[in-house]
Amino acid sequence: MSSDDQANTLDIIKASTTDIIELLAAQKSAFPDDPYNLNEADFEEAINSPSQSIWIAKHDNQFAGYIALNDKRLRPWTGLDNLIVLERFWGKKIGRKLLLHAIKNATRPIIRLFVEKNNLPAVKLYKTEGFWHLYSKANHYENNDSALVMFLKT
Ligand SMILES: CC(C)(COP(=O)(O)OP(=O)(O)OC[C@H]1O[C@@H](n2cnc3c(N)ncnc32)[C@H](O)[C@@H]1OP(=O)(O)O)[C@@H](O)C(=O)NCCC(=O)NCCS
Repeated sequence: MSSDDQANTLDIIKASTTDIIELLAAQKSAFPDDPYNLNEADFEEAINSPSQSIWIAKHDNQFAGYIALNDKRLRPWTGLDNLIVLERFWGKKIGRKLLLHAIKNATRPIIRLFVEKNNLPAVKLYKTEGFWHLYSKANHYENNDSALVMFLKT
């Protein structure tokens, strides 16, 4: 547990199945039409699988956002998915704290993520924390936007 100032607390805890409703709602509010969104069964599997983890940020005990990690077979990297902070909590350094927590808890020496090219707040955050944009995937998203594929060597 850490304090972001004298009045507020920020806890980062591992998700459990009782968090799935809030995880689904957060994902939907950030990415209403993303075909890569997880459904309820995907979240349940991610929470219960030893090769995946979901970390939730609680700001003064309120669900404020989450980040997900997965280790797929035959890949040298840990995949970082779904860094989401609820809009009302933006700008409080919760995104950065979730990202740093995920980097610390990644089990493989490389982390890979996809981010929409025009998502400047997220791209800036990832670059600041040392991620490199190695290549792009054109038309990756529903709206035909490109994804930047970024890597970090931990
Ligand atoms: C991207 C996101 C997670 C950032 O969360 P946050 O808690 O507001 O971010 P923080 O307060 O920790 O800010 C960390 C850094 O992000 C960048 N950032 C955040 N908001 C920004 C903005 N509006 N414009 C530019 N950069 C911004 C900055 O580099 C900032 O560091 P700084 O304040 O030292 O300059 C949040 O905006 C979000 O959930 N967006 C919707 C979901 C999303 O796009 N996720 C990324 C998927 S790949």
